[in-house]
Amino acid sequence: MDPAPADWPNYRYERKPGELKKDKYGMIDPTPDVVSLTFLPVDTYGFVDWVKSINEGLVRPKDTLPGQINHLKPEDLETNNQDILIRSKMKFMPDVIFPHAQHNAWLKCSVCHPKIFKKKAGANNISMAAIWKGQWCGRCHDRVAFPTRNCFKCHSAPGDAKK
Ligand code: HEC
Ligand code: HEC
Ligand code: HEC
Repeated sequence: MDPAPADWPNYRYERKPGELKKDKYGMIDPTPDVVSLTFLPVDTYGFVDWVKSINEGLVRPKDTLPGQINHLKPEDLETNNQDILIRSKMKFMPDVIFPHAQHNAWLKCSVCHPKIFKKKAGANNISMAAIWKGQWCGRCHDRVAFPTRNCFKCHSAPGDAKK
């Protein structure tokens, strides 16, 4: 992984794959190539806000691994920026907004389509119970992405979106 830009002043990272990391004095630096979490913004629950971290330029996930073709096809560009409204089955919860762009910054389309989600708005009968059992959004949220206790980060549609 590339270092966070906030770390750049302290390390020289121009090394080739497999080469040992050295510090600015030319000594072997045994620290792992991880982003210093202390530099990253957090959400209201104290978890790192990764989307904000990208938006503020603090982390920059690679588009592709060396030797692989960039996953985004020209015909996918439109969907790349599409937010999808998932209507709430219960009146007391706001509708869910699924943002494609923020996911595509980390994942390629085939991570989710067609195995986790049918590629059609409303075609997936998603329920909260199933999410908590690790299906649908719960394949990642509560595991590698922000936890589901942060209800309103997903249930984020303003009230009038319902009408
Ligand atoms: C990772 C995204 C995400 C988070 C976080 C999340 N939900 Fe959901 N939730 C959904 C989706 C998607 C649906 C399916 C569409 C719908 O019915 O709203 C859903 C559905 C629901 C429903 C509708 C009934 C049902 O069982 O499906 C309720 C109630 C609900 N969520 C409550 C909550 C509560 C309470 C929290 C926080 C403790 C929460 N959700 C957190 C994505 C999320
Ligand atoms: C993190 C998972 C995830 C990733 C990655 C993802 N999608 Fe989706 N996609 C969804 C979800 C969730 C929906 C809405 C499903 C629903 O409403 O039931 C959706 C819906 C769609 C739809 C239907 C839109 C409509 O209006 O009917 C298309 C087309 C689509 N995605 C294409 C793509 C393409 C192209 C990519 C890659 C650039 C991509 N998706 C990446 C989860 C994902
Ligand atoms: C394949 C993995 C995966 C799936 C499935 C997935 N997400 Fe995510 N999601 C992520 C990752 C990774 C992030 C970015 C890291 C983070 O914010 O924790 C993210 C971030 C988000 C964000 C934050 C956007 C922001 O602006 O901060 C929302 C909202 C979200 N997901 C909603 C959903 C909903 C709703 C579903 C199900 C319909 C879903 N996700 C399914 C991986 C996934």
